[in-house]
Amino acid sequence: MPLSPAQLKAFDEDGYLFLPDCFSGEEVAALRREAELIYHSGRPEVWQEKSGAPRTAFAAHTYNEGFRLLGSHPRLIEPVEQLFGEKLYMHQFKVNAKAAFDGDVWQWHQDYGTWARDDGMPEPRAMNISVFLDEVMPINGPLMFIPKSHKHGVLPAGHDEATTSYPLWTLDHETITRLVDAAGIVAPTGKPGAVLMFHGNLVHASTANITPYPRKIVYLTLCAVSNYIRKPTRPEWIAHRDFTPIEPVADDALLQYARSHRIAAE
Ligand code: SIN
Ligand code: MN
Repeated sequence: MPLSPAQLKAFDEDGYLFLPDCFSGEEVAALRREAELIYHSGRPEVWQEKSGAPRTAFAAHTYNEGFRLLGSHPRLIEPVEQLFGEKLYMHQFKVNAKAAFDGDVWQWHQDYGTWARDDGMPEPRAMNISVFLDEVMPINGPLMFIPKSHKHGVLPAGHDEATTSYPLWTLDHETITRLVDAAGIVAPTGKPGAVLMFHGNLVHASTANITPYPRKIVYLTLCAVSNYIRKPTRPEWIAHRDFTPIEPVADDALLQYARSHRIAAE
């Protein structure tokens, strides 16, 4: 379903949109199981926390059928095509674990800051669209956004290679304090199957997860095809070089997959 004028206005003003109930519990249950298998597969695309717990699995849409279908799903592709007014390719795809007890922080950052500095992406015409695989609660490390912070362009950042296992261009405390004083912090929560889309320059972070509740979220980074990256420095499975426009699958493809998968698993 296309985004309504009210949704487009809210996205422009606040920099994010929350779409609860985008996927059914049945559609995401199979992906949740697949994610756990991938985390323990020993694949090189799976990144660990300093503790050894899984942090993220990159590029799962290239080696797992369920995630391939999610990565081409019309409920995710069409709203972003509508916003950018052109076809999209997959710049990055990751399944973040935020594991029970051991899930580490993501420091305050802007995604486009990394895409511009590390990948040579010309414009912030790419964005993350995230799908909750587990319930995201106030207590298990939800994504935190500073509303309206996307209006400030690319903010100065330092390259943090020490805090977590994952290098990130992070913002300093003065900048965060100034932005939060102006607009506060929101942390949208919801059931598995909810979707959060957010502007490439929206400032965000998440805290550690010390609860027994894992918080898996899939992130599709969808980039307008004309905005393909010019100077990649990261491995292909982190910043893809396949700029082929994504052709959406049928709306019920993931449901059919989940049903056949469940039957096969029983
Ligand atoms: C990210 O910002 O890329 C990930 C944040 C999170 O999963 O909490
Ligand atoms: Mn991010």
